Amino acid sequence: MEHRLSRNDPCWCGSGKKYKHCHLKTDRASQRVARRVPRGVIIKTEAQIAGIRKSSQLTRKILDMLETRIEPGLTTEQINTWVHEMTVANGAIPAPLNYRGFPKSTCTSINEVICHGIPSPERVLIEGDILNVDVTCILDGYYGDSSRMYLIGEVSEEARQLVAVTRECMYLGIQQVKAGNHVGDIGYAIQSYAEGYGYSVVRAFVGHGTGIQFHEPPNIPHYGAPGTGIELVPNMVFTIEPMINIGTYNVKILDDGWTSLTADNSLSAQWEHTVRVTNNGVEILTE
Ligand code: MF3
Ligand code: CO
Ligand code: CO
Repeated sequence: MEHRLSRNDPCWCGSGKKYKHCHLKTDRASQRVARRVPRGVIIKTEAQIAGIRKSSQLTRKILDMLETRIEPGLTTEQINTWVHEMTVANGAIPAPLNYRGFPKSTCTSINEVICHGIPSPERVLIEGDILNVDVTCILDGYYGDSSRMYLIGEVSEEARQLVAVTRECMYLGIQQVKAGNHVGDIGYAIQSYAEGYGYSVVRAFVGHGTGIQFHEPPNIPHYGAPGTGIELVPNMVFTIEPMINIGTYNVKILDDGWTSLTADNSLSAQWEHTVRVTNNGVEILTE
């Protein structure tokens, strides 16, 4: 699946130079084994990173705006309108709108809905709900993808713990992001923490490369074994977006073709950041 990079291959860093004219010497000095970047994985240039950072920061500001406004009695349609208006007011496009036929500008996923909930004027937020809002902006062609949980009024202890543990899962995954680690290290950190609480990790949806397209290779599963999967190299950009359920990880999809919920109707939570692999760790672009 992965091959050791040879002297005349293009360098893994995306410079366009031959490996022997680029990172070969420093890799040897650090005894790093360079591998071919897997097919389809884009190592971003500095200019692309600057664009993705800007888009990611707009996404963050939209999620911040919602923190100040979300309360019981609102409809998810109202949230969609705020997200849409702030996105376009900043010269950006809401990536979900018309993406593979998705009808709205953001996803609003409540309680047993895992992800891809469709905002609706019929759905009023009520005390005790847990809500995920997932925002992706396209600014100057670059994508920034992030989601957070919002607690609606007073929420049960059970739900609050699920939300807090899921957030911690995301950060434990992010802590594994550094050059030389593997995708499986991220999944393992998330899975072992979640299962320690008796929760399950959704398999049907995974994190993903992003930045130039909404969804790019590689997949970033939120489960797995240490040292497995592709190796992380500097300037890969991808999301970490664990979906954690109190009950089974199996999903069912409603007839609308989008709304994904837990097969046993147990509660589900999700948090998401877009991150970049740096030379010595990670940059959280949407924070
Ligand atoms: N933002 C979601 C993700 O994290 C994707 C939503 S696709 C949509 O990957 F069409 F539902 F918007
Ligand atoms: Co995503
Ligand atoms: Co998202």
